[in-house]
Amino acid sequence: MKLINKKIKSYTQIFHLFTEEEWSRTSKNLNKNIAAFFTGKKHEVFINVQDEGIAYFIGLGKADSPVFEMQQVAVKFSQTYKEKLSAVPTLIVGDFMVEKQFEEFIKGLLLGTYNYPFEKTHAFWNPKFELHFENLSQKRLDMISHKSEALSNAQTACQEWLNKPANLKKPETFGTYLKNISKKYNLKYTSFNRKKCEELGLGAYLSVNQGSSYDAAFTILEYKTTVKNAKTFGLVGKCVLFDTGGISLKNPDNMHYMKSDMGGATAVLGALIYAAELQLPVNIITVLPITDNAISENAFLPSDVITAYNGKTIEVLNTDAEGRMILADGLSYLAKNYKTDILIDLATLTGSSVRMFGDTCGAMFSNNEELKNLLIKTGDSTNQRLWNLPLWDIWKDDIRSDVADLKNISMKPIGDCIVAAKFLEQFIENHPRWAHLDIAGVAFGNVGYAKEKAATGFGVQLLSDLIENYH
Ligand code: BES
Ligand code: MG
Ligand code: ZN
Repeated sequence: MKLINKKIKSYTQIFHLFTEEEWSRTSKNLNKNIAAFFTGKKHEVFINVQDEGIAYFIGLGKADSPVFEMQQVAVKFSQTYKEKLSAVPTLIVGDFMVEKQFEEFIKGLLLGTYNYPFEKTHAFWNPKFELHFENLSQKRLDMISHKSEALSNAQTACQEWLNKPANLKKPETFGTYLKNISKKYNLKYTSFNRKKCEELGLGAYLSVNQGSSYDAAFTILEYKTTVKNAKTFGLVGKCVLFDTGGISLKNPDNMHYMKSDMGGATAVLGALIYAAELQLPVNIITVLPITDNAISENAFLPSDVITAYNGKTIEVLNTDAEGRMILADGLSYLAKNYKTDILIDLATLTGSSVRMFGDTCGAMFSNNEELKNLLIKTGDSTNQRLWNLPLWDIWKDDIRSDVADLKNISMKPIGDCIVAAKFLEQFIENHPRWAHLDIAGVAFGNVGYAKEKAATGFGVQLLSDLIENYH
């Protein structure tokens, strides 16, 4: 898609955008008959076929609705009219729109082209598709186009990897992909195999990986800016390629969803791609402890006591609580070896968070008031919402073990997402600005491009917005 500030005389395709207010102001001067079919309500589309061409009247809803709704409308429009839209110079009319609204609309058009497996066959990816908009300078349009493509590349990469079936996302395939994008974006790529992890003492991560038929791949990707005094973000993403539960085997009914247990990692991956594509003036260190959680003769067992990277011992009482094991080492490895201003981990961590919030928001835990507020605000504006839950010390009692420093589950049937967060807190090495985002309920769910649950892209816009606007 090219955005162009130019008026040509005749267009065969027009996108006419209206809020309800704007429609009631202008409809009188337009074709009166259309008013019988179109009111400007959110997601409403009226197609007016004329001799000169085809006009799509697109309803944006109330004028004062949040800006992210522009993106939602565009996503749905892009998905719904995929087959009908042509790759021709197209006029987009919406004089009343401010730049941010227009930007969100463009992002939505591109994000809406995603389907699995992703092929850029949508008319919007055809170079012949030009979108002509008169109300912004070419310079602003170039900026919007650059940002929108970066976001779309970031989010579709996230969705594509999450959507892949288990047999197509083995550690090696994913590793090769990460190596390739590291080359492409000039990232520093490091990956520790099982032998190296043993040397380093990444015992909590290895306890999960020891049952795998695939080698360990504790992977670190670093994006560095040349800008001086830039902020540094540490991001850890849970990367369980498939979670069978291990010896504490899961019930088979919903087990196929466990291909989505790398949703934290794919969110982090998306943010990294966004930052690298736009060459944002920040540093990002990402840690992805990659493994599956498999059953085998080598698998870890309930009652095992293992020593984590930071020296703490953990009694494993449930091998299905594997996410907190690998994140424990991910967090303490990052905190011990890198100096970061902000430390955030994202994980499809607990069924408990799903039962609490469903798909309405992620569960957030943080030791820093400012970061907490910023994340809530960023979540609200990107429509990737978070809600804060407590980290009170009373919960610490629930993870005290008789035979180790900690146990990996509380054995009580309540508040496991809080227990898990409390567990992770023991591995941040006193980092003053840490947040844990449990995204189990929001990473994989109902989407407009698939019949079954699929990757939502949750976390990519949230993190991208946070990183881009953090001072
Ligand atoms: N990956 C799951 C959590 C999950 C559940 C993600 C539903 C997405 C949707 C995690 O590893 C897990 O199995 N958690 C257990 C922990 C329990 C054994 C304490 C859970 O929540 O049931
Ligand atoms: Mg599990
Ligand atoms: Zn899991």
